[in-house]
Amino acid sequence: MQVTHDDIMFVATLVNELCGVMLDESKGYLVESRLSGLAREAGCASYRDLCHKARAPGNAPLQHKIIDAITTQETLFFRDDSPFEALQHKALPELIDAKAKTAFSRRIRVWSAAASTGQEAYSIAMTLCELIPDVRTWDINILGTDICNAAVAQASLGRYAGHEIQRGLSPHLRSKYFVPDGNGWRVRDELRALVSFQRRNLLEPFTGLGSFDIIFCRNVAIYFGAATRRDLFHRIADRLAPGGFLFVGSSESLSDLGPRFAPLHHCRAVYYQPNKRQAPALV
Ligand SMILES: C[S@@+](CC[C@H](N)C(=O)[O-])C[C@H]1O[C@@H](n2cnc3c(N)ncnc32)[C@H](O)[C@@H]1O
Repeated sequence: MQVTHDDIMFVATLVNELCGVMLDESKGYLVESRLSGLAREAGCASYRDLCHKARAPGNAPLQHKIIDAITTQETLFFRDDSPFEALQHKALPELIDAKAKTAFSRRIRVWSAAASTGQEAYSIAMTLCELIPDVRTWDINILGTDICNAAVAQASLGRYAGHEIQRGLSPHLRSKYFVPDGNGWRVRDELRALVSFQRRNLLEPFTGLGSFDIIFCRNVAIYFGAATRRDLFHRIADRLAPGGFLFVGSSESLSDLGPRFAPLHHCRAVYYQPNKRQAPALV
C-alpha cells in the first residue's frame, strides 16, 4: 500500500498521542513496512483510514497492534556492558552499605522501564545474583515494564531463541542461569522468581508502582520529543528512593535537564543519583 505525505502525518499524530514516539516525514518507509499488513488485516484502504478506525470508540486492541508494530524492541543481554559493571561494582555496593543501617537492609527494588523482551531485567537479576551470594534470603524484585504486549509476553515466558541468547550472554552465565528448552533457552526458575513483568505506557501516571532503589530507562526516550523526554525523566526520578540510582542509554546524556541530573562516572559508565541524600548539617 502506497504511503502519502498525509498518511505519514495522520500516523505520526496518532502514534505520538498513543506512546510518545515521534515520526517525521522521512519515516514513510517505516509506516509502510510496519503497518501495511495491519491496514490490510483491518480492511483499510489507506493508512489514514487505519488511523480513523483506531480512534473509534472501543478500538483499543487496534491501537495496541499499531503500537506493537511501530515501536522498536531491539535489545540484548548486558547491553553496552559498562552500566552493568557500574551497577555491580559501584551502585549496588553503595546501596547495600546504605541499606545496612535501615530496617529494610535486605530489600532491593529495581525497575527496568521499557524492558522490551526482558533481557535487561534478567541481566540486572544476574548481576544481583553474582554480587550477593545468599540472594535467596533477600527480598528482591526487579519489575520490567513495556508498552508492547508481545514483548511483555515473551519476557514473562523467559524463553529465548538461540540467536537471542548468543547476544551479550557469556556461555558461563548461560549455563548458570538458563536451561535448554527445545531449540532455545529458558530462564531458570530461581532467576525468574526475582523478576516480574507488566504492560505499562510510560506516558501514563506511574500509579501503584511504589518507589525503587535503581531504575534503568534506556533507549526509549530517544524516540520521544524533547518535552516528553524531560517530563519522563523527572517523573522517573520522582519514583527513586533517596540515594537511588538511574541508568539511561549510552547516547542519552541528561545533563541538559538541570542540576538534579548531575552525572556520576564509573569507568565508561555514566549514571545519575537525582535524589541525593542530604549530608547531615554541621553543628
Ligand atoms: C529499543 S527498546 C529498549 C529496550 C531496553 N531498555 C534496552 O535498552 O535494551 C525500546 C522499548 O521501548 C518500548 N516503548 C516505546 N514507547 C513506550 C512507551 N510509551 N511506554 C513504554 N514502553 C515504550 C518499546 O516497546 C521497546 O520495547
